[in-house]
Amino acid sequence: MITLYFPKQVVIFGLFILNVRALDTFIAAVYEHAVILPNRTEKPVSHEEALLLMNKNIDVLEKAVKLAAQQGAHIIVTPEDGIYGWVFTRESIYPYLEDIPAPEVNWIPCRNPKRFGNTPVQERLSCLAKDNSIYVVANIGDKKPCNASDPQCPPDGRYQYNTNVVFDAEGRLVARYHKYNLFAPEIQFDFPKDSELVTFDTPFGKFGVFTCFDIFSHNPAVALVDELQVDSVLYPTAWYNTLPLLSAAPFHSAWARAMRVNLLAANTHNTSMHMTGSGIYAPEEVKVYHYDMETSSGQLMLAELKSRPPLEPTFPPAVDWSAYARSVKPFTSGQSHFPGMIYFDEFTFTELKGDAGNYTVCHKDLCCHITYKMSEKRGDEVFALGAFDGLHTVEGQYYLQICTLLKCQTTDLRSCGEPVGSAFTKFEEFSLSGTFGTSYVFPQIVLSGSQLAPERHYEVSRDGRLRSRSGAPLPVLVMALYGRVFEKDPPRLGQGPRKLQ
Ligand SMILES: *[C@@H]1O[C@H](CO)[C@@H](O)[C@H](O)[C@H]1NC(C)=O
Ligand SMILES: *[C@@H]1O[C@H](CO)[C@@H](O)[C@H](O)[C@H]1NC(C)=O
Ligand SMILES: *[C@@H]1O[C@H](CO)[C@@H](O)[C@H](O)[C@H]1NC(C)=O
Ligand SMILES: *[C@@H]1O[C@H](CO)[C@@H](O)[C@H](O)[C@H]1NC(C)=O
Repeated sequence: MITLYFPKQVVIFGLFILNVRALDTFIAAVYEHAVILPNRTEKPVSHEEALLLMNKNIDVLEKAVKLAAQQGAHIIVTPEDGIYGWVFTRESIYPYLEDIPAPEVNWIPCRNPKRFGNTPVQERLSCLAKDNSIYVVANIGDKKPCNASDPQCPPDGRYQYNTNVVFDAEGRLVARYHKYNLFAPEIQFDFPKDSELVTFDTPFGKFGVFTCFDIFSHNPAVALVDELQVDSVLYPTAWYNTLPLLSAAPFHSAWARAMRVNLLAANTHNTSMHMTGSGIYAPEEVKVYHYDMETSSGQLMLAELKSRPPLEPTFPPAVDWSAYARSVKPFTSGQSHFPGMIYFDEFTFTELKGDAGNYTVCHKDLCCHITYKMSEKRGDEVFALGAFDGLHTVEGQYYLQICTLLKCQTTDLRSCGEPVGSAFTKFEEFSLSGTFGTSYVFPQIVLSGSQLAPERHYEVSRDGRLRSRSGAPLPVLVMALYGRVFEKDPPRLGQGPRKLQ
């Protein structure tokens, strides 16, 4: 069953679909899909069997596309691995792959299905787009033959790429993006030689495309926004939530806020893998998001977005992330520090002892300040302020500077940084800031039950403070300023399973 969430206040501009003049707003859709997985097997299945499984998934996506189009959506994003899942070796995924041409060939697979060989998946996706007059974004696998004339060609004579494709409302292939930053377990795919910056223009703004782990990167993620000035980013992902700092909806919405772009994030849905959390995020607010650890169903979301956010009066100003923190003296009142791990990184923590207070904690070059006031501080809950400045080296390498305030898992300080699901203590006031050496800082607040804090309750000030604004008490699980220092990254974030020589 496909359920739909579409905020009531959104006006439907269905009449504009056939209109090619510039639109000030558009309706975006994302679909969180509970992927039907193939059986795990080392031995490759036949192409027919692979197609059968892919068609089962596309049947579900088709219902979502139709429903979205009926509601006036201009574009719909479906998840990474959304058509065949992720349980593969290099050999066993091969029957699922198609040769995907570059968009420059100007191809509508629905009209001309045999032009590039056997491509039934591209044909079907193209027809979905064309028949419903909607842009369709999907993630499939590309295969590219190579031979000894290319010294990097793998021994089996082909490259296999994790690939996003976009078909426009006439069914034309308008974008093809090969995922650059593969995540460690993706042994079925090859790293492309170069990072591609893939964009396309529409009557409702300029779009960029990337995939899942790419969101940690400068190339292509930041480059698409800073260098190519896209208005909106299309983001298929297969993201498993890792509290406290790496949950899908909090992290993705923070990225959209900090980068000041629209982000259309479609996650796969599999609760036993903790995969859930999709949404439509504008620079100034979360338009809609979905987080569901209870059911095994998919979910369609729609929201109206501004086509060109920088032209809007609501466009948030740029933030100087260290201005406030550098202007104040560190708070020092008999605080003791202790270490704690978050996702394999050793933070320096200090406990927040009173109902209200000022604390500073430093790690290397980063000092984090918190000023806070709690109501109803519970004796059985402990909160701590943590700082981390260093290279993360597990499942990828990337340089971080992070300030975080979080609830410890138990009252034992050694549990600070471990995942925790609920909090009862409420914060009436808070202001978190840090002496960041980067202008890329992603601000997030997660409340008890993994819910996002509504924007009316907090703000990011121009001098880099993440602070309360309404005085409404919030049951904070974790808040963080998650900074990325790209200059200190190694050349590639992902560590490939096999090194191409
Ligand atoms: C997986 O295997 C079971 C039992 O052999 C079979 O019934 C089922 O159809 C298979 N599923 C897929 C997706 O091939
Ligand atoms: C294989 O190599 C030959 C030259 O040795 C070249 O002409 C041909 O295009 C290559 N094929 C592929 C798929 O790269
Ligand atoms: C979720 O993913 C796991 C691991 O790949 C798989 O074993 C399980 O069957 C999936 N659950 C569903 C409901 O598909
Ligand atoms: C925190 O510091 C501010 C000034 O920096 C001061 O006004 C306030 O009283 C302090 N709060 C506590 C609880 O110490």
